[in-house]
Amino acid sequence: MSALQGRRLLVTGAGSGIGRAAARLFRDRGADLILAGRRLDTLRETLPDAIHVVLDHTDDAAVATFARECPELDGMLLNAGGLLLGSVESTPAADFDAAIAVNLRGPWLMAHHLGPRMKPGGSVVLVGSNIGLRAIPDSAAYSVAKAGVHMLAKVLALEWAPRRIRCNAIAPGPIRTAMVEARLAASADPEGDLAALSAVNPLKRMGTEVEVAALAAHLLGSESGWTTGIVIPIDGGADAVY
Ligand SMILES: NC(=O)c1ccc[n+]([C@@H]2O[C@H](COP(=O)([O-])OP(=O)(O)OC[C@H]3O[C@@H](n4cnc5c(N)ncnc54)[C@H](OP(=O)(O)O)[C@@H]3O)[C@@H](O)[C@H]2O)c1
Repeated sequence: MSALQGRRLLVTGAGSGIGRAAARLFRDRGADLILAGRRLDTLRETLPDAIHVVLDHTDDAAVATFARECPELDGMLLNAGGLLLGSVESTPAADFDAAIAVNLRGPWLMAHHLGPRMKPGGSVVLVGSNIGLRAIPDSAAYSVAKAGVHMLAKVLALEWAPRRIRCNAIAPGPIRTAMVEARLAASADPEGDLAALSAVNPLKRMGTEVEVAALAAHLLGSESGWTTGIVIPIDGGADAVY
């Protein structure tokens, strides 16, 4: 039997990219899904027969309201986020606040309000980034927010351990989703940038949404039952060599 069989899992950012691939993989492995995102049409496209929740995870009152009606959960993949390019000096305060909100405040609020809905023995996975582990130019606010996500996973692992709830973060390298497409569209040299994204790791290719989803599935299932409070890079080996 699959380690996710019969588990009720919530996925944020489930209408596209990594979240969509994860929701579909978890369903194929027998989980019951609650899909959250800001657009109902894309959530329905991911899995028409799941529960769909239109939710801006940065909205404290909206997340609190949802948590009051949410059934008990076996796990959450807190995946929603958004890239912001720019250096510290070029990023205005309002853009910094927006990057922190979508990448860090969102998962914080989800953990704050939905933690009490988690069943003992459950598992939560936060989606960080390999550039929250290693600094690169021109993604300052995003990188800082993702570094915060990694620490949030460790703090939650500690706080939730007495209830036997685990929490880990995964730190993907570049995956060709809408987020990366938008970055390439804004580039003066999209082909050069794309080649650079693939060349940066020893395996010399970008990752796929399904590869990231499979790691999240492992962490959400009982087979990873003694793994908590860690940040796992999934980046073709980039973290090992630079
Ligand atoms: N692709 C990469 O190379 C890469 C690398 C490392 C980490 N990541 C992380 O992986 C996660 C998924 O990204 P992706 O690559 O799959 O890109 P994506 O397709 O753009 O997915 C981002 C998702 O987040 C949702 N979202 C954004 N703001 C939201 C908000 N305020 N409230 C609720 N949902 C919100 C979006 O849904 P709606 O717009 O419908 O609300 C969207 O489904 C992100 O946390 C990203 O930082 C991606």
